Amino acid sequence: MERKLSKLNKIINMSAKICVLTGAGISAESGIPTFRGGGNSAVWKGMPFEQISSARMVRENLDAVWEWFDHRRGVYKDCQPNAAHFALAEWQEKFEDFTLVTQNVDGLHSRAGSKNIIELHGNINRARCEKCGRIYQMKFDEVPHQPDFCENCETKLRPDVVLFGEMLPVEAFQIAEQKARECDIFFIIGTSALVYPAAGLAEIAKFSGAVLVEINPEETSLTNFCDHSLRGKAGDILPNFL
Ligand code: OAD
Repeated sequence: MERKLSKLNKIINMSAKICVLTGAGISAESGIPTFRGGGNSAVWKGMPFEQISSARMVRENLDAVWEWFDHRRGVYKDCQPNAAHFALAEWQEKFEDFTLVTQNVDGLHSRAGSKNIIELHGNINRARCEKCGRIYQMKFDEVPHQPDFCENCETKLRPDVVLFGEMLPVEAFQIAEQKARECDIFFIIGTSALVYPAAGLAEIAKFSGAVLVEINPEETSLTNFCDHSLRGKAGDILPNFL
């Protein structure tokens, strides 16, 4: 591992453009269960995650959706960013062109100090009015959520999170795609790489000539496609770079 890390450090230090895609695994060491790693994070009151976190559920039972999201916000508020989140927050200071793309909605990257994060699946600490589009930033430690209704049009707000049956935010994905295409090195950290189009960013980067590096304690469907696959926890590995 040490040789691998020192070789990679050289590659990183020669790279001008760095792009990182993170998934639930980066927050595992903060105590947040991953989606596909057990811990029952994918089931709520007997309902599978895909059902309670769906566009259909927003239409049919928005209160139940908020109950589930407030439950998660209650778990997240007591969790702290870990060494991996802090390491990436430092990377943004060290590289001229650094892009952090995340599939996570937990807000831990920004609590660690990362800025300009491309949040492909939204953020659990934001609410949105579906009628007028107004966005409300909520306090991460205010549970249950506030406010509940739009000040503009009095419509009941919904979580500003991408749900099953919904498209990713177009502009955010376009920027992520462009950064993946242009970067010299692309890191894929703590994701099972099963959910598209996010996982497709790694493929775009690789086909565009970037060095692809995976950090994950387990193999994923992208492992064989990567130039370097580091088997371990993000919080143990990331602080060794730079
Ligand atoms: P998954 O739960 O599918 O995968 C988590 C990955 O993190 C697994 O590959 C684990 O091996 C790895 N992992 C666990 N602990 C780790 C650690 N300490 N360091 C590094 N890696 C670790 O989560 P995602 O890939 O993020 O979408 O799931 C993608 C999307 O699926 C989520 O954003 C969510 C879900 O449906 C939406 O909510 C729209």
